[in-house]
Amino acid sequence: MVAHQSIYITTPIYYVNDAPHLGHAYTTVLADTFARYHRSRGRAVFFLTGTDEHGQKIEEVARAAATTPLAHADRVVERFRDTWKRLLIANDDFIRTTEPRHKAVVERFWQRLVDRGDIYLSSYEGWYCVACEDFSPESQVVDGMCPIHQRSLSRIEEPSYFFRMSRYERTLIEHIESHPAFIQPESRRNEVLAFVKGGLRDLSISRTSFSWGIPVPGDPAHVIYVWVDALVNYLSALGGTEGPNADTFWPHAVHLVGKDIVRFHCVYWPTLLMAAGVPLPKTVLAHGWWTVRGKKISKSMPATRVDPNLLAEDLSPDALRYFLLREVPLGLDGDFSYEALLSRTNSELGNDLGNLVNRTLTLAHRFLAGRVPSPGHPSELAAIAVAARDQAAAALEAYHPSRALDAIFELVRAANRYVDHTAPWTMAKDPDRAALLPTTLYELLETIGWLGRLLVPFMPAKGAAMLAQLGVDVLAESTLPAWPDRWGELPAGQSLGTPAPLFPKIDAAKSAELLNRWVAPELREDSSAPTGGAPSAAPPKADAAASLTFDEVQRLDLRTGRIEHAERIAGSTRLLRLEVDLGEGRRRQIVSGIAETYAPEQLLGRTVVVVANLAPANIRGTLSEGMLLAAGEAAVEALATVDGPVAPGTRVR
Ligand code: MSP
Repeated sequence: MVAHQSIYITTPIYYVNDAPHLGHAYTTVLADTFARYHRSRGRAVFFLTGTDEHGQKIEEVARAAATTPLAHADRVVERFRDTWKRLLIANDDFIRTTEPRHKAVVERFWQRLVDRGDIYLSSYEGWYCVACEDFSPESQVVDGMCPIHQRSLSRIEEPSYFFRMSRYERTLIEHIESHPAFIQPESRRNEVLAFVKGGLRDLSISRTSFSWGIPVPGDPAHVIYVWVDALVNYLSALGGTEGPNADTFWPHAVHLVGKDIVRFHCVYWPTLLMAAGVPLPKTVLAHGWWTVRGKKISKSMPATRVDPNLLAEDLSPDALRYFLLREVPLGLDGDFSYEALLSRTNSELGNDLGNLVNRTLTLAHRFLAGRVPSPGHPSELAAIAVAARDQAAAALEAYHPSRALDAIFELVRAANRYVDHTAPWTMAKDPDRAALLPTTLYELLETIGWLGRLLVPFMPAKGAAMLAQLGVDVLAESTLPAWPDRWGELPAGQSLGTPAPLFPKIDAAKSAELLNRWVAPELREDSSAPTGGAPSAAPPKADAAASLTFDEVQRLDLRTGRIEHAERIAGSTRLLRLEVDLGEGRRRQIVSGIAETYAPEQLLGRTVVVVANLAPANIRGTLSEGMLLAAGEAAVEALATVDGPVAPGTRVR
C-alpha cells in the first residue's frame, strides 16, 4: 500500500519535433492507468504530462520547416493534446516549457544553485548529439557519430556554465542504496548505481551557440541546457516548491520514464534537487521500449512508426490501452505486432469479456424482465472476485499492470465457467432449479459490476459502459467509479441497460482491411503479393512448418559465452543459475533447465552458444538474461558448443 495518501504521477514531457507515436502513448497510458487507479481508491492524485519545447533540436526542426520554434511548437502541441484526448487520458495539468509559469520557476531554481555556489563559468569542449540533446563522452564516439542515432555529432567549443554535480556523487549513492523504491525496476537501479560509482563529473548546463531556450539569469548570451529546463517542469507545474500544490504532492512523485532517459532522471535530476535543497521524488519508474521487428519505434525510423490515433479510432481506445498494458510486463521491451493486437482484442476482450457481459445481460432481459433480482447466498464467484480485486490492487501498487490484468481476467474466466456449468437458460424449465435462477443471475450481474469497476483504470470507456449496461448511473457517482468494496451492492430492482456488444468481433475480412490500413507498405510480409501487398488475414498462430525469412533469422543474436559460475536453484531439480561471460564487461545471469544432464562443476569454463537478445524473464524469482542452446527433444541431451577456441561474445551465425 502507498504510505502517503497523495500521489503525483508524471510522464516525461515530449519533444515537439515529432508527432506522438506508440512509444509516447505507452508511457502516457501507463501513467493514466495508475492515476485512475489511485483516484478510484479515493487518494489525492495529480497527474501531469506536457511538452518539452526548447533546445537545439526544436530550433533546427523549425528552421527546416521555415517557421519559428514557437509557431512549430504551437502546432505540434495540439497533436499531443488531441492524441491524449483520443486515448482517454485524464491528466490534471499539461505543461509547456514555453509557458511563463515554467520559465519563472526555472529562473528561481537556477538562482538557488548559484546561491549555493554550485554553478561556475568555464568552457566546454567536446561532442554533442542534437537528437539526444546530450553530451557524448569521447569514449562512446565512433567516427564522429552518435552510437544511438547514427547521426553525426556536433563538435562544441564554447563558454559554458557548469553544475558541480561531482559534489553530490556520495550523497546520491547513499540515497539510492537506502531508498530501494527510488529507482525501479531493480535492474535499472543497479545500472545507475554502477554508473554513479564510476564517478560523476560536473555537468555543462548552458549553451551559447543557439538561442532557443530560457536565458541564463544575468547572462543572456547563454541559454539554460534543455534537460535542466525540462526536468524542472515537475516542480513548475506545482507552482514551484512554494506553490499551492507543492505541499500536497511534493515529494510524493512517481516519474514514469522510458529506459532511454533514466540517467537524466536518476542522476541529473536528483543531484540538481539536492543542490537546490529540495527533497527527492519517491520513485523513478522506467519502462522498456516498444520495437517493431526489433527496431525501436522512433521518428528517425519511419518504418517503425505506429500511429496510436489510427488504432484507437479503428478498434477503440480501450482495446489499444488494454493491449499495451497487458502484452508486456512493465520494465521489459516488447515487439509490437498488429496481429497480436487484433488477436488479443478478439479473444480476451471479445470472446472472454464481451461475451460474458452480453450473455448475462441477454439472460437477465429474457428471464428477469431486465431488472436486477434480489441477491441470495453469495456463490463461489464472490470469493474469486475478492481475490482478483486484492491481487490486482497489490499488482498496481507495485506498478505491474499486466499482472493486475491477469488477475482480473481470472475472474472473467471463472464467471464464464459459472455460466457454462449453471446453464441458466435451462433453469427456468427445470422445476427443481427454477428458484435458483434469480440468484444465479444476480451473481453474474454483480461480477460484471465488479469487473467494470476493476477495469475502469485500464479501459475507462468500456469499464463505464459495463456499469451503464447494469443501469449504474456512472456520471452521477461523485467521482469516477470507485474500486469495488463489498459484494452485493447492486441494488435489487434496478433497471438494466440495453445489451450491446462491447468489442464487436473482427472477422477475417475486417482484419485484412484493418491491416491494410495500418501496416506501412514496406513492413508488409509479402509486398509482391497479387493483392497489392495486403497481409494475409490469417490469425497470428505460428505455423510450425512456416519457413523464416533471412531477416527473421538475422534477428536472433547468437553469441558464444563462457560459463564462469554455475549453481543449482534451490527447490528445483531441473534449473541451474549460470553466470556467463558474453564479452560485455559484465556477466549475464542465465537460468537454464539443464541440471538433470549437467552438474554445475562440469560446466565451469565451457564455451556455449547463447541467445543473447532473448527478452529477460523472471524464472522462479531469478532474472534470466538469455538462453543456452542445447540438443534434445523433451530432455536436454547435450549443450551446443563451438568447434574451436573463440572469444566470449563472438557472433554465431
Ligand atoms: N523531452 C525528453 C523528456 C524530458 S522529461 C523531463 C524526451 N522526450 S521524447 O519525446 O523523446 O519522449 C521520450 C519518452 O517517450 C521516452 O522516455 C519514453 O517514455 C517514450 N518513448 C519514446 N519512444 C519509445 C518507444 N519506442 N517505446 C516506449 N517508449 C518510448 O526524451
